[in-house]
Amino acid sequence: METKIKTLDGSGNDDIILREAADLIRRGDLVAFPTETVYGLGGNGLDPSSSRAIYAAKGRPSDNPLILHIADREALRPLVREIPPAAEKLMDAFWPGPLTIIFRKTGLVPPETTGGLDTVAVRMPSHPGAAALIRAAGVPIAAPSANASGRPSPTCARHVYEDLNGRIPLILDGGESEIGLESTIVDVSRSVPEILRPGYIGLQALRDLLGTVSVDPAVLGRPDEKTAPRAPGMKYRHYAPQVPLTLVAGPDEKRAAYILEKAQEAAQNGERTGAMVCRETLPLYQADEGDHLLLIPLGARACGEEIAHGLFAALRHLDECGLSHVYSETFEEGPLGVAIMNRLRKAAAFDLTDLA
Ligand code: TXA
Ligand code: MG
Repeated sequence: METKIKTLDGSGNDDIILREAADLIRRGDLVAFPTETVYGLGGNGLDPSSSRAIYAAKGRPSDNPLILHIADREALRPLVREIPPAAEKLMDAFWPGPLTIIFRKTGLVPPETTGGLDTVAVRMPSHPGAAALIRAAGVPIAAPSANASGRPSPTCARHVYEDLNGRIPLILDGGESEIGLESTIVDVSRSVPEILRPGYIGLQALRDLLGTVSVDPAVLGRPDEKTAPRAPGMKYRHYAPQVPLTLVAGPDEKRAAYILEKAQEAAQNGERTGAMVCRETLPLYQADEGDHLLLIPLGARACGEEIAHGLFAALRHLDECGLSHVYSETFEEGPLGVAIMNRLRKAAAFDLTDLA
C-alpha cells in the first residue's frame, strides 16, 4: 500500500484533504492525523474491524484499549453510561485539550475498541485539524498514538511515516505537535478520580479542581505484580531506544563528572557515548564534546514545555547516532516533571543511577 502524506496548511485546500481523510475513515480505512499532544492513528471507533486494523498496523497487543476522540460534548452521551460530576468539572476545565477521561461504556462501543474492558477512554482534542477531521467523519475516531508498538509516540508526520509507511493509506501533516507528550488520563468510573497516565495537565491542577485525586502507583515507579498499571498500555515496554539508556540523578556538577568519566572509559574501547542534557548544564559537558561524546541538548529545564516538546524526537534520534550507551539527566522539576520522568523512566527500562 502506498502511504500518502498531505499537508494541512490552513488554506482552503484543507477542506478537500479532510473530506478525503473522513471518507477513508468511514470506509473502514486508517488515517494518521495531528493532535496537540502527539499524532494519532485514527479509525472508526464504532467499527470493530477498524479497531482490529489499528492493532494490526501498529503491531499492538489487542488487550490495549484505544481512546475515542470526539469534537463535541453531545457526541459523548451515547458512548457512556453515566457522566459523573467529576467528569463534568474536568470537561468544563480542560476540554478541548490534552485530557482523556475514562467512563463506563455503553453497548454502542465495541469491545474490540476497549480491549474487552467495560470502560471507555474519551478525549476531545483542541487541534483544529483533529477536530475538523472528527466532524467530517461523523463518528468518534479511535486513535492510539501513531507509532509502531514500543516506539516513542510520533510528534511529526515524518515519525509516523518512519513507523507506518506501507501500512496506512494517508498521513495528515500538521507540523510538530505542540505539547509532545500524550494526554493525561483520569479515570472517573470509580469513587475517587485516579490518574492513570500523567501528562501536560498535572496533578496539582487536577487536585485544585476535584479535591482528592489518587495516582496509579505504576505512574511513579516500576510496575510489578503489586502495582500492575490500571491503564493496560502503561505495562508495555515503551519509548525504548535500541541503545541502552541510563538516567542519572544528583547534583549538576557531580552528575556531569560521572557521565564524562563513563564516556572516557567507553572511549578507551573505541565507543561513543551520548548525553541528554539541558541548556542550563550544557557548559559542564562542552569541553569534552567530540568523537567520543555526543551531546543531545533537550532544552531549558526551567521550561518543562520545551523538554516535553522535543523529548520523543530526541529518543527516536538516539539509534541513528552510532552510540554504545546514552546517559540522561533527570527532569523532576516543574508541573511537567512527573510526566517527563514517567516517559524517561520507561525509555530507560527503569535504569537509574542516583548520585545524591
Ligand atoms: O494524547 C493522546 O492520548 C494520544 C492522542 C493520539 O490522542 N493517544 C494515545 O493513545 O496516547 P494510546 O493508545 O497510545 O494510549 C492510550 C492509553 C493506553 O495506555 C491505554 O491502555 C489507556 O490509554 N486506556 C485506554 N482506554 C482505557 C480504559 N478503558 N481503561 C484504562 N486505560 C485505558
Ligand atoms: Mg501510545
